[in-house]
Amino acid sequence: MKVRSIAVCQSCGAQSPRWTGKCGSCGQWGTIVEETTERRPAATRTTSPVALSDVESAGCARISTGVPEVDRVLGGGLARGSVVLLAGEPGVGKSTLTTQIALESPGVLIVCGEEVPAQVRARAERLGAVVAGLNTLSDPSIASITQAMTGSELVIVDSIQTVWDPDIPSAPGSVAQVRECGARLARAARDAGTTLVLVGHVTKDGSVAGPRVLEHLVDVVCAFEGDKGGTIRLLRVLKNRFGATDEIGFFEMTEKGLVAIDDASRYLLAGRREGLPGSVLAVTMQGKRPVLIEVQALVADSNLAMPRRTALGVSSGRLALLIAVLQRRLGLVLGGKDIFVSAAGGLKADEPAADLAVACALLSSALDIVLPSDLAVFGEVGLSGELRASGGSRRRLAEAANLGCTRVIVPQGIDENPPGLELLAASDVAEVRHILDLVTKPQVKGHAAVGM
Ligand code: TYD
Ligand code: MG
Repeated sequence: MKVRSIAVCQSCGAQSPRWTGKCGSCGQWGTIVEETTERRPAATRTTSPVALSDVESAGCARISTGVPEVDRVLGGGLARGSVVLLAGEPGVGKSTLTTQIALESPGVLIVCGEEVPAQVRARAERLGAVVAGLNTLSDPSIASITQAMTGSELVIVDSIQTVWDPDIPSAPGSVAQVRECGARLARAARDAGTTLVLVGHVTKDGSVAGPRVLEHLVDVVCAFEGDKGGTIRLLRVLKNRFGATDEIGFFEMTEKGLVAIDDASRYLLAGRREGLPGSVLAVTMQGKRPVLIEVQALVADSNLAMPRRTALGVSSGRLALLIAVLQRRLGLVLGGKDIFVSAAGGLKADEPAADLAVACALLSSALDIVLPSDLAVFGEVGLSGELRASGGSRRRLAEAANLGCTRVIVPQGIDENPPGLELLAASDVAEVRHILDLVTKPQVKGHAAVGM
Protein backbone atom coordinates (compact mmCIF):
# COMPACT_ATOMS: atom_id res chain seq x y z
CA MET A 1 0.00 0.00 0.00
CA LYS A 2 1.44 3.34 -1.01
CA VAL A 3 1.54 6.03 1.67
CA ARG A 4 1.24 9.64 0.59
CA SER A 5 0.82 12.89 2.39
CA ILE A 6 -1.78 15.50 1.60
CA ALA A 7 -2.72 18.80 3.20
CA VAL A 8 -6.30 18.81 4.52
CA CYS A 9 -8.24 21.81 5.86
CA GLN A 10 -9.58 20.85 9.28
CA SER A 11 -12.48 23.23 8.87
CA CYS A 12 -13.96 22.46 5.47
CA GLY A 13 -12.17 19.25 4.51
CA ALA A 14 -10.67 20.64 1.28
CA GLN A 15 -7.56 18.78 0.16
CA SER A 16 -4.48 20.13 -1.56
CA PRO A 17 -1.13 18.56 -2.40
CA ARG A 18 0.88 21.10 -0.38
CA TRP A 19 0.57 22.80 3.01
CA THR A 20 -0.49 26.45 2.95
CA GLY A 21 -1.22 28.95 5.73
CA LYS A 22 -4.66 29.78 4.39
CA CYS A 23 -7.24 27.39 3.04
CA GLY A 24 -7.91 28.20 -0.61
CA SER A 25 -11.41 26.78 -0.30
CA CYS A 26 -12.93 28.28 2.86
CA GLY A 27 -10.41 31.09 3.37
CA GLN A 28 -9.61 30.26 7.00
CA TRP A 29 -6.08 30.65 8.31
CA GLY A 30 -4.11 28.00 10.17
CA THR A 31 -6.56 25.19 9.58
CA ILE A 32 -4.45 23.13 7.16
CA VAL A 33 -2.84 19.99 8.56
CA GLU A 34 -0.73 17.46 6.71
CA GLU A 35 -2.22 14.02 6.85
CA THR A 36 -0.94 10.77 5.51
CA THR A 37 -3.40 8.62 3.69
CA GLU A 38 -3.10 5.22 2.26
CA ARG A 39 -4.09 4.47 -1.24
CA ARG A 40 -6.53 1.66 -0.85
CA PRO A 41 -6.57 -1.08 -3.43
CA ALA A 42 -9.43 -0.72 -5.87
CA ALA A 43 -12.62 -2.36 -4.65
CA THR A 44 -12.98 -5.87 -5.95
CA ARG A 45 -16.65 -6.31 -5.03
CA THR A 46 -18.82 -5.87 -8.09
CA THR A 47 -22.60 -5.76 -8.45
CA SER A 48 -24.80 -5.98 -11.51
CA PRO A 49 -27.48 -3.45 -12.40
CA VAL A 50 -30.97 -4.19 -11.08
CA ALA A 51 -34.22 -2.98 -12.63
CA LEU A 52 -35.72 -0.33 -10.37
CA SER A 53 -39.10 -2.04 -10.71
CA ASP A 54 -37.57 -5.12 -9.04
CA VAL A 55 -36.12 -3.19 -6.13
CA GLU A 56 -38.14 -3.46 -2.96
CA SER A 57 -39.17 0.00 -1.92
CA ALA A 58 -37.61 1.08 1.34
CA GLY A 59 -40.81 2.99 1.94
CA CYS A 60 -40.36 5.16 4.91
CA ALA A 61 -40.78 2.93 7.91
CA ARG A 62 -40.33 5.18 10.90
CA ILE A 63 -39.20 4.34 14.36
CA SER A 64 -40.28 6.66 17.09
CA THR A 65 -37.51 8.24 19.15
CA GLY A 66 -39.89 8.28 22.12
CA VAL A 67 -39.45 12.06 22.28
CA PRO A 68 -42.50 13.46 20.43
CA GLU A 69 -40.88 16.83 19.69
CA VAL A 70 -37.93 15.09 17.98
CA ASP A 71 -40.31 12.82 16.01
CA ARG A 72 -42.26 15.84 14.81
CA VAL A 73 -39.12 17.65 13.63
CA LEU A 74 -37.92 14.56 11.76
CA GLY A 75 -41.28 14.18 10.03
CA GLY A 76 -42.64 11.31 12.11
CA GLY A 77 -39.61 9.68 13.71
CA LEU A 78 -36.30 8.28 12.52
CA ALA A 79 -36.50 6.57 9.14
CA ARG A 80 -35.51 2.97 9.76
CA GLY A 81 -31.96 2.31 8.58
CA SER A 82 -31.16 5.99 8.11
CA VAL A 83 -28.00 7.77 9.19
CA VAL A 84 -28.52 10.97 11.14
CA LEU A 85 -25.90 13.56 12.06
CA LEU A 86 -26.69 15.55 15.21
CA ALA A 87 -24.36 18.53 15.21
CA GLY A 88 -23.97 21.16 17.88
CA GLU A 89 -21.53 23.09 20.01
CA PRO A 90 -19.99 21.38 23.01
CA GLY A 91 -22.24 21.71 26.07
CA VAL A 92 -25.44 22.53 24.18
CA GLY A 93 -27.08 19.25 25.24
CA LYS A 94 -26.44 16.67 22.51
CA SER A 95 -25.64 13.87 24.98
CA THR A 96 -28.69 14.80 27.04
CA LEU A 97 -30.96 14.57 24.00
CA THR A 98 -29.48 11.29 22.76
CA THR A 99 -29.67 9.75 26.24
CA GLN A 100 -33.33 10.74 26.50
CA ILE A 101 -33.95 9.07 23.14
CA ALA A 102 -32.03 5.97 24.25
CA LEU A 103 -34.14 5.71 27.42
CA GLU A 104 -37.35 5.79 25.40
CA SER A 105 -36.42 3.43 22.56
CA PRO A 106 -35.83 -0.32 22.61
CA GLY A 107 -32.58 -1.98 21.52
CA VAL A 108 -30.25 0.99 21.70
CA LEU A 109 -26.46 0.91 21.78
CA ILE A 110 -24.67 4.03 22.97
CA VAL A 111 -21.04 4.26 21.90
CA CYS A 112 -19.64 6.56 24.55
CA GLY A 113 -16.33 7.73 23.19
CA GLU A 114 -16.30 10.90 25.24
CA GLU A 115 -17.39 9.51 28.56
CA VAL A 116 -17.12 6.27 30.48
CA PRO A 117 -20.28 4.14 30.82
CA ALA A 118 -20.50 5.16 34.50
CA GLN A 119 -21.02 8.77 33.43
CA VAL A 120 -23.63 7.73 30.92
CA ARG A 121 -25.39 5.79 33.65
CA ALA A 122 -25.29 8.78 35.99
CA ARG A 123 -26.87 10.94 33.31
CA ALA A 124 -29.46 8.28 32.52
CA GLU A 125 -30.40 8.12 36.22
CA ARG A 126 -30.80 11.86 36.29
CA LEU A 127 -33.02 11.78 33.26
CA GLY A 128 -35.24 8.90 34.35
CA ALA A 129 -34.94 5.25 35.10
CA VAL A 130 -32.13 3.20 33.56
CA VAL A 131 -33.92 0.80 31.26
CA ALA A 132 -33.08 -2.79 30.49
CA GLY A 133 -31.80 -3.51 27.01
CA LEU A 134 -29.81 -0.28 26.76
CA ASN A 135 -26.23 -1.17 25.98
CA THR A 136 -23.08 0.90 26.11
CA LEU A 137 -19.78 0.45 24.33
CA SER A 138 -16.78 2.26 25.70
CA ASP A 139 -14.35 1.46 22.89
CA PRO A 140 -14.90 3.84 19.99
CA SER A 141 -12.72 1.94 17.54
CA ILE A 142 -14.36 1.31 14.22
CA ALA A 143 -13.96 -2.46 14.48
CA SER A 144 -15.70 -2.66 17.88
CA ILE A 145 -18.57 -0.46 16.76
CA THR A 146 -19.26 -2.28 13.51
CA GLN A 147 -19.15 -5.58 15.36
CA ALA A 148 -21.48 -4.41 18.14
CA MET A 149 -23.84 -2.78 15.67
CA THR A 150 -25.57 -5.94 14.52
CA GLY A 151 -28.47 -6.73 16.79
CA SER A 152 -29.15 -3.11 17.77
CA GLU A 153 -32.14 -1.20 16.46
CA LEU A 154 -30.49 2.15 17.02
CA VAL A 155 -26.82 2.98 17.49
CA ILE A 156 -25.85 6.35 18.93
CA VAL A 157 -22.20 7.30 18.47
CA ASP A 158 -21.24 10.08 20.89
CA SER A 159 -19.21 11.53 19.27
CA ILE A 160 -17.93 10.84 15.75
CA GLN A 161 -14.81 12.86 16.65
CA THR A 162 -13.72 10.09 19.03
CA VAL A 163 -14.18 7.22 16.57
CA TRP A 164 -10.93 5.85 15.40
CA ASP A 165 -9.65 3.53 12.71
CA PRO A 166 -6.12 2.20 13.36
CA ASP A 167 -5.56 1.90 9.60
CA ILE A 168 -5.63 5.66 9.20
CA PRO A 169 -2.41 7.24 10.44
CA SER A 170 -3.87 10.44 11.84
CA ALA A 171 -5.36 11.36 15.20
CA PRO A 172 -9.02 10.75 16.12
CA GLY A 173 -11.01 13.87 15.32
CA SER A 174 -8.91 14.78 12.28
CA VAL A 175 -10.76 15.23 9.02
CA ALA A 176 -9.30 12.02 7.60
CA GLN A 177 -10.55 9.97 10.58
CA VAL A 178 -13.95 11.67 10.78
CA ARG A 179 -14.60 11.30 7.08
CA GLU A 180 -13.40 7.72 6.76
CA CYS A 181 -14.98 6.47 10.01
CA GLY A 182 -18.24 8.27 9.22
CA ALA A 183 -18.38 6.62 5.80
CA ARG A 184 -17.56 3.18 7.19
CA LEU A 185 -20.12 3.45 9.98
CA ALA A 186 -22.78 4.62 7.56
CA ARG A 187 -22.05 1.70 5.24
CA ALA A 188 -22.07 -0.79 8.10
CA ALA A 189 -25.36 0.61 9.42
CA ARG A 190 -27.00 0.39 6.01
CA ASP A 191 -25.78 -3.18 5.57
CA ALA A 192 -27.06 -4.15 9.01
CA GLY A 193 -30.34 -2.24 8.62
CA THR A 194 -29.55 -0.35 11.81
CA THR A 195 -30.48 3.27 12.39
CA LEU A 196 -27.40 5.31 13.21
CA VAL A 197 -27.15 8.64 15.01
CA LEU A 198 -23.75 10.32 14.82
CA VAL A 199 -23.16 13.11 17.32
CA GLY A 200 -20.74 15.74 15.98
CA HIS A 201 -19.21 18.76 17.64
CA VAL A 202 -19.05 22.04 15.84
CA THR A 203 -17.57 25.22 17.18
CA LYS A 204 -18.83 28.78 16.74
CA ASP A 205 -16.18 29.75 14.22
CA GLY A 206 -17.20 27.21 11.61
CA SER A 207 -16.32 23.72 12.56
CA VAL A 208 -13.19 21.99 13.78
CA ALA A 209 -12.64 18.74 11.89
CA GLY A 210 -16.03 19.67 10.64
CA PRO A 211 -18.94 17.32 10.67
CA ARG A 212 -19.44 19.24 7.45
CA VAL A 213 -17.36 16.56 5.74
CA LEU A 214 -20.09 14.11 6.76
CA GLU A 215 -23.05 16.06 5.47
CA HIS A 216 -23.13 14.44 2.05
CA LEU A 217 -22.99 10.87 3.30
CA VAL A 218 -25.70 11.03 5.96
CA ASP A 219 -29.44 11.07 5.26
CA VAL A 220 -30.42 13.67 7.83
CA VAL A 221 -28.47 16.56 9.32
CA CYS A 222 -29.86 18.05 12.54
CA ALA A 223 -28.42 21.08 14.27
CA PHE A 224 -28.94 21.47 18.00
CA GLU A 225 -28.60 25.11 18.90
CA GLY A 226 -29.12 27.47 21.76
CA ASP A 227 -27.50 30.07 23.89
CA LYS A 228 -25.68 28.09 26.59
CA GLY A 229 -26.30 30.91 29.04
CA GLY A 230 -30.03 30.55 28.47
CA THR A 231 -32.26 27.52 28.74
CA ILE A 232 -33.97 27.43 25.35
CA ARG A 233 -32.70 24.92 22.79
CA LEU A 234 -33.66 24.50 19.14
CA LEU A 235 -33.55 21.39 17.04
CA ARG A 236 -33.37 22.25 13.34
CA VAL A 237 -33.25 19.89 10.40
CA LEU A 238 -30.81 21.19 7.78
CA LYS A 239 -31.06 18.22 5.42
CA ASN A 240 -33.63 15.44 5.30
CA ARG A 241 -33.78 12.77 2.63
CA PHE A 242 -37.03 11.52 4.16
CA GLY A 243 -38.98 14.66 4.85
CA ALA A 244 -39.22 18.41 5.08
CA THR A 245 -36.58 20.65 6.58
CA ASP A 246 -38.76 23.44 7.85
CA GLU A 247 -39.80 22.04 11.22
CA ILE A 248 -38.10 23.29 14.35
CA GLY A 249 -38.28 21.75 17.79
CA PHE A 250 -38.19 23.89 20.92
CA PHE A 251 -36.87 22.59 24.21
CA GLU A 252 -36.13 23.93 27.63
CA MET A 253 -33.01 22.58 29.34
CA THR A 254 -34.11 21.74 32.87
CA GLU A 255 -32.58 19.84 35.78
CA LYS A 256 -34.36 16.77 34.50
CA GLY A 257 -33.23 17.12 30.93
CA LEU A 258 -34.84 18.58 27.85
CA VAL A 259 -38.55 19.36 28.01
CA ALA A 260 -40.47 20.29 24.87
CA ILE A 261 -41.92 23.79 24.81
CA ASP A 262 -45.36 23.84 23.20
CA ASP A 263 -45.98 27.53 23.32
CA ALA A 264 -42.65 29.14 22.46
CA SER A 265 -44.05 32.67 22.25
CA ARG A 266 -45.50 32.56 25.75
CA TYR A 267 -42.29 31.02 27.09
CA LEU A 268 -40.16 33.75 25.52
CA LEU A 269 -42.38 36.61 26.60
CA ALA A 270 -42.91 35.39 30.16
CA GLY A 271 -40.33 37.72 31.68
CA ARG A 272 -40.97 40.72 29.45
CA ARG A 273 -40.87 44.09 31.14
CA GLU A 274 -43.34 46.48 29.64
CA GLY A 275 -43.21 50.24 29.36
CA LEU A 276 -39.61 50.57 28.20
CA PRO A 277 -38.49 52.42 25.08
CA GLY A 278 -36.65 50.42 22.42
CA SER A 279 -38.78 47.30 22.71
CA VAL A 280 -41.27 45.84 20.26
CA LEU A 281 -42.83 42.48 19.51
CA ALA A 282 -41.81 40.86 16.22
CA VAL A 283 -43.99 38.15 14.76
CA THR A 284 -41.39 35.78 13.29
CA MET A 285 -41.63 32.39 11.63
CA GLN A 286 -39.41 29.72 13.11
CA GLY A 287 -39.71 26.98 10.55
CA LYS A 288 -43.46 26.56 10.08
CA ARG A 289 -44.31 27.94 13.49
CA PRO A 290 -45.12 31.59 14.18
CA VAL A 291 -43.28 32.82 17.28
CA LEU A 292 -43.45 36.22 18.93
CA ILE A 293 -40.05 37.54 19.90
CA GLU A 294 -39.21 40.75 21.71
CA VAL A 295 -36.74 42.81 19.68
CA GLN A 296 -34.85 45.42 21.69
CA ALA A 297 -32.74 48.32 20.50
CA LEU A 298 -30.51 50.77 22.34
CA VAL A 299 -29.40 53.91 20.56
CA ALA A 300 -26.87 55.86 22.62
CA ASP A 301 -24.42 58.74 22.05
CA SER A 302 -21.01 57.38 21.15
CA ASN A 303 -17.53 58.53 22.06
CA LEU A 304 -15.99 56.35 19.43
CA ALA A 305 -14.73 57.46 16.04
CA MET A 306 -16.39 54.34 14.65
CA PRO A 307 -19.60 53.96 16.65
CA ARG A 308 -20.48 50.46 17.73
CA ARG A 309 -23.09 48.46 15.85
CA THR A 310 -24.00 45.21 17.53
CA ALA A 311 -26.65 42.77 16.32
CA LEU A 312 -27.56 39.78 18.50
CA GLY A 313 -30.01 37.34 17.00
CA VAL A 314 -30.79 39.75 14.18
CA SER A 315 -28.89 40.05 10.92
CA SER A 316 -26.07 42.62 11.11
CA GLY A 317 -26.34 43.22 7.36
CA ARG A 318 -30.04 44.02 7.61
CA LEU A 319 -29.39 46.22 10.67
CA ALA A 320 -26.91 48.31 8.65
CA LEU A 321 -29.47 48.56 5.84
CA LEU A 322 -32.26 49.64 8.20
CA ILE A 323 -30.06 52.28 9.86
CA ALA A 324 -29.32 53.72 6.41
CA VAL A 325 -33.00 53.63 5.43
CA LEU A 326 -34.11 55.40 8.63
CA GLN A 327 -31.41 58.04 8.14
CA ARG A 328 -32.28 58.73 4.51
CA ARG A 329 -36.06 58.32 4.55
CA LEU A 330 -36.90 59.77 7.95
CA GLY A 331 -33.91 62.05 8.55
CA LEU A 332 -33.12 60.25 11.80
CA VAL A 333 -29.61 61.16 12.96
CA LEU A 334 -27.89 57.90 13.84
CA GLY A 335 -24.36 58.60 12.60
CA GLY A 336 -22.72 59.38 15.95
CA LYS A 337 -24.65 56.78 17.92
CA ASP A 338 -23.73 53.39 19.28
CA ILE A 339 -26.51 51.01 18.24
CA PHE A 340 -27.27 47.67 19.83
CA VAL A 341 -30.11 45.46 18.68
CA SER A 342 -30.99 42.13 20.17
CA ALA A 343 -33.64 39.45 19.89
CA ALA A 344 -34.41 38.61 23.52
CA GLY A 345 -34.48 35.01 24.68
CA GLY A 346 -31.83 33.50 22.43
CA LEU A 347 -33.97 32.92 19.34
CA LYS A 348 -33.19 34.48 15.99
CA ALA A 349 -35.22 37.19 14.30
CA ASP A 350 -33.04 37.32 11.20
CA GLU A 351 -35.61 36.82 8.45
CA PRO A 352 -36.49 39.82 6.23
CA ALA A 353 -39.95 39.92 7.86
CA ALA A 354 -38.24 40.98 11.11
CA ASP A 355 -37.03 44.23 9.46
CA LEU A 356 -40.03 46.22 10.61
CA ALA A 357 -39.49 45.13 14.20
CA VAL A 358 -35.84 46.21 14.10
CA ALA A 359 -36.87 49.53 12.51
CA CYS A 360 -39.59 50.12 15.15
CA ALA A 361 -37.23 49.21 18.00
CA LEU A 362 -34.63 51.64 16.62
CA LEU A 363 -37.26 54.40 16.28
CA SER A 364 -38.58 53.70 19.76
CA SER A 365 -35.14 53.97 21.33
CA ALA A 366 -33.90 56.90 19.23
CA LEU A 367 -37.08 58.90 19.89
CA ASP A 368 -37.41 57.62 23.47
CA ILE A 369 -41.02 56.58 23.02
CA VAL A 370 -42.65 53.57 24.62
CA LEU A 371 -44.56 51.37 22.19
CA PRO A 372 -47.76 49.78 23.52
CA SER A 373 -47.24 46.31 24.91
CA ASP A 374 -50.13 44.90 22.86
CA LEU A 375 -48.57 46.03 19.58
CA ALA A 376 -46.79 43.56 17.29
CA VAL A 377 -45.20 44.14 13.89
CA PHE A 378 -43.88 42.27 10.89
CA GLY A 379 -42.84 43.06 7.33
CA GLU A 380 -39.84 43.45 5.13
CA VAL A 381 -38.33 46.91 4.57
CA GLY A 382 -36.90 47.72 1.14
CA LEU A 383 -34.08 50.13 0.31
CA SER A 384 -36.47 52.98 -0.45
CA GLY A 385 -38.18 52.47 2.86
CA GLU A 386 -41.13 50.65 1.32
CA LEU A 387 -42.79 47.79 3.18
CA ARG A 388 -43.20 44.41 1.56
CA ALA A 389 -45.52 41.63 2.56
CA SER A 390 -44.04 38.46 4.03
CA GLY A 391 -45.23 34.89 3.82
CA GLY A 392 -47.33 33.24 6.49
CA SER A 393 -49.38 36.37 7.30
CA ARG A 394 -52.40 34.39 8.46
CA ARG A 395 -50.41 32.26 10.91
CA ARG A 396 -48.47 35.26 12.16
CA LEU A 397 -51.64 37.22 12.84
CA ALA A 398 -53.30 34.27 14.55
CA GLU A 399 -50.31 33.90 16.86
CA ALA A 400 -50.30 37.63 17.66
CA ALA A 401 -54.00 37.45 18.56
CA ASN A 402 -53.38 34.31 20.58
CA LEU A 403 -50.77 36.13 22.66
CA GLY A 404 -53.14 38.96 23.47
CA CYS A 405 -51.99 41.55 20.94
CA THR A 406 -54.71 43.90 19.74
CA ARG A 407 -52.84 45.85 17.05
CA VAL A 408 -50.37 44.74 14.41
CA ILE A 409 -48.45 46.99 12.02
CA VAL A 410 -48.25 45.20 8.68
CA PRO A 411 -47.33 46.02 5.08
CA GLN A 412 -50.23 47.04 2.86
CA GLY A 413 -52.05 44.40 0.88
CA ILE A 414 -52.61 41.84 3.60
CA ASP A 415 -56.13 40.66 3.11
CA GLU A 416 -56.87 39.16 6.50
CA ASN A 417 -59.37 40.06 9.11
CA PRO A 418 -58.57 38.16 12.27
CA PRO A 419 -61.06 38.70 15.08
CA GLY A 420 -59.93 40.92 17.92
CA LEU A 421 -57.00 42.30 15.96
CA GLU A 422 -56.69 45.73 14.38
CA LEU A 423 -54.42 45.76 11.32
CA LEU A 424 -52.49 48.99 10.90
CA ALA A 425 -51.31 48.83 7.29
CA ALA A 426 -48.39 51.00 6.21
CA SER A 427 -46.77 51.36 2.79
CA ASP A 428 -43.42 52.75 3.93
CA VAL A 429 -41.37 53.70 6.99
CA ALA A 430 -42.75 57.25 7.00
CA GLU A 431 -46.25 55.84 7.51
CA VAL A 432 -44.92 53.52 10.20
CA ARG A 433 -43.45 56.55 11.99
CA HIS A 434 -46.85 58.24 11.77
CA ILE A 435 -48.64 55.16 13.14
CA LEU A 436 -46.16 54.94 16.02
CA ASP A 437 -46.96 58.57 16.87
CA LEU A 438 -50.66 57.79 16.92
CA VAL A 439 -50.40 54.65 19.03
CA THR A 440 -47.91 56.05 21.51
CA LYS A 441 -49.41 59.47 22.16
CA PRO A 442 -51.91 58.46 24.83
CA GLN A 443 -49.34 56.18 26.48
CA VAL A 444 -46.41 58.55 26.76
CA LYS A 445 -46.05 59.75 30.32
CA GLY A 446 -42.85 61.49 31.30
CA HIS A 447 -41.10 60.36 28.14
CA ALA A 448 -40.36 63.51 26.22
CA ALA A 449 -40.08 62.59 22.57
CA VAL A 450 -36.75 63.76 21.22
CA GLY A 451 -37.09 65.55 17.92
CA MET A 452 -35.59 64.04 14.84
P1 TYD B 1 -24.54 17.67 27.42
O1 TYD B 1 -25.70 16.90 26.96
O2 TYD B 1 -23.44 16.91 28.10
O3 TYD B 1 -23.91 18.53 26.21
P2 TYD B 1 -23.10 18.04 24.90
O4 TYD B 1 -23.18 16.57 24.82
O5 TYD B 1 -23.75 18.75 23.77
O6 TYD B 1 -21.70 18.51 25.08
O7 TYD B 1 -25.13 18.75 28.41
C1 TYD B 1 -24.56 20.00 28.57
C2 TYD B 1 -25.11 20.77 29.74
O8 TYD B 1 -26.42 20.50 30.04
C3 TYD B 1 -24.32 20.49 31.00
O9 TYD B 1 -23.54 21.62 31.27
C4 TYD B 1 -25.33 20.33 32.06
C5 TYD B 1 -26.64 20.59 31.43
N1 TYD B 1 -27.67 19.61 31.82
C6 TYD B 1 -28.83 20.07 32.40
O10 TYD B 1 -29.02 21.27 32.60
N2 TYD B 1 -29.81 19.18 32.74
C7 TYD B 1 -29.64 17.85 32.55
O11 TYD B 1 -30.56 17.06 32.89
C8 TYD B 1 -28.43 17.37 31.96
C9 TYD B 1 -28.21 15.91 31.73
C10 TYD B 1 -27.49 18.29 31.59
MG1 MG C 1 -21.67 15.16 25.04
